[in-house]
Amino acid sequence: MSSSNFYRGRRLRSSKAIRDMVRETDLLPRNLVQPFFVLESQDPKESRPIASMPGQSQLAPAALEEEVSRAVDLGLQSVILFGIPVHKDQKASQAYAQDGIIQQTVQRLKKRFPSLVVITDVCLCEYTDHGHCGLIQDKKVQNDPTLELLAKTALSHAQAGADIVAPSDMMDGRVQAIRDMLDNQGFKELPIMSYAVKYASAYYGPFREAAQSSPSFGDRKTYQMDPGNAREALREAEADIIQGADMLMVKPALPYLDIISALQSSFDLPVAAYQVSGEYSQIKAAAQLGWLDEKSVALESVTAIKRAGAEIILTYFAREILGWMAGNE
Ligand code: PBG
Ligand code: ZN
Repeated sequence: MSSSNFYRGRRLRSSKAIRDMVRETDLLPRNLVQPFFVLESQDPKESRPIASMPGQSQLAPAALEEEVSRAVDLGLQSVILFGIPVHKDQKASQAYAQDGIIQQTVQRLKKRFPSLVVITDVCLCEYTDHGHCGLIQDKKVQNDPTLELLAKTALSHAQAGADIVAPSDMMDGRVQAIRDMLDNQGFKELPIMSYAVKYASAYYGPFREAAQSSPSFGDRKTYQMDPGNAREALREAEADIIQGADMLMVKPALPYLDIISALQSSFDLPVAAYQVSGEYSQIKAAAQLGWLDEKSVALESVTAIKRAGAEIILTYFAREILGWMAGNE
């Protein structure tokens, strides 16, 4: 073979300027959503670091407002909120209380940052005393009775001023129940970002410590998906589209790039992916041990998630990435 006959991929890698010119995937601030844990507390400035998620804290509303303000200055355009209520009970009453921690916090954030896209996670597990995502009867999570409470929760978030509601419970029919409730109550224009494809993943471990939402018995395998299944993801996504979802989410992200890619090519809705707590914490832990370079690995993993087909990426690294984009070390 003559030396000029083979493909020379290195031609386009020879300088940073040329590499930049031919790069296919760039992260942009608009791709990033920062999750926050909102703590109900007597002290509105309270901040409790989460041991298993270095750099993340449970924040009472005033402390949260300050953190959000700093992130917005760096270019953050969207947040997703999880509540940590003082009171938990069987029917998750604080999930849909008008003056619940999320409802108060959404009002507060929208007042201070009108153009920030405030997404609320809609689920019951942080609010139930048993830690499951739905109502329990005979030790089982009841699907249909849960739908009404999820719809009430989404409505209360909408009334507080949320821009997008994101149901993460994995009950069947919840998107339709939420859509019907929102439409009937004057929120026809409010989008639903469905956690359409949510796997029963061990990567949620640190989140459950952060949100104090571990199930007190059993596990979530009767409602979240089996990690071995890919075709089922298409059925889940299709069901949610028919019920009125506006965006589809895959969760976790990096272990499920094939699923992100499949949703991106099979449907015409925007695709979101959630780089979950365990994905974040394993990078942080390896970095603390000096085994991985945090900045490079964080950027590589989030870029890979976008390359696979997610335009919207929920990641605990959002603030840090924005800082790196702004030139901070
Ligand atoms: C609640 C919920 C979970 C996450 C988001 N919403 C945990 C779970 O299903 O147990 C996980 C997020 C993360 O791990 O960062 N339904
Ligand atoms: Zn839940």
